[in-house]
Amino acid sequence: WGAGPLHGINTVVTAGPTYEALDPARGFTNRSSGKMGYALAAALANQGAAVTLISGPTALPAPAGVRRIAVTSARQMRDAVWACRGAMDLFVAAAAVADYRPQTVLADKLKKDADTLTVTLVRNPDILAEVAALTPRPFTVGFAAETGDVETKARAKRARKGIDLIVANPIDEAGVGFAGDDNRVILIDKDHAGAWAAAPKTEIARALVREIIKRLPRTASP
Ligand code: C5P
Repeated sequence: WGAGPLHGINTVVTAGPTYEALDPARGFTNRSSGKMGYALAAALANQGAAVTLISGPTALPAPAGVRRIAVTSARQMRDAVWACRGAMDLFVAAAAVADYRPQTVLADKLKKDADTLTVTLVRNPDILAEVAALTPRPFTVGFAAETGDVETKARAKRARKGIDLIVANPIDEAGVGFAGDDNRVILIDKDHAGAWAAAPKTEIARALVREIIKRLPRTASP
């Protein structure tokens, strides 16, 4: 790992969607591309952090200097994060984790016999909330993809999950959010909220890393 302001900071970044299988051919997922999380992992590594990127299924190459662990489901992502918990100074949760998974994964492909089909979903673990509840805990950064009054919803989410910093982004605006290269974010900590202009995700990642560096308690040895 290189030198830089984050030298010696063990960082875990989650990115991408999760995929929750229903049968061998099908499952539930979402529109996350992973671009924001991958850009953050790259920007953190560029500042010297030791970055483990725990990624759901994406089409993206692993950024240089980053250790990538590929996972599929939310529970696999949680287990991979959990395995890092003993040495984690910074946790950035950029993954779009599925909130629910099918209660049963069918061994055989589901047949279209019935006219209607009901699938029971059960809650997945909230990885970010679990990490935020650790003692001692890493500096925690979460994302909040929201529609409508993004700032109010994200402020409430930051407080509820007990995290240090939340990056809110609207997903009901053209050109920003899930799949695209650009994003528009509102950065919220316990004291204020600041709205940033829309910009490429790579640029937003670099600016977010500067904000993290400003706030991070120094745990690294000199
Ligand atoms: O509550 P919501 O899913 O909107 O919170 C979003 C934030 O929480 C993101 O940072 C996401 O990565 C994280 N999260 C998580 N595990 C979940 C759900 C969300 O880590 N099961």
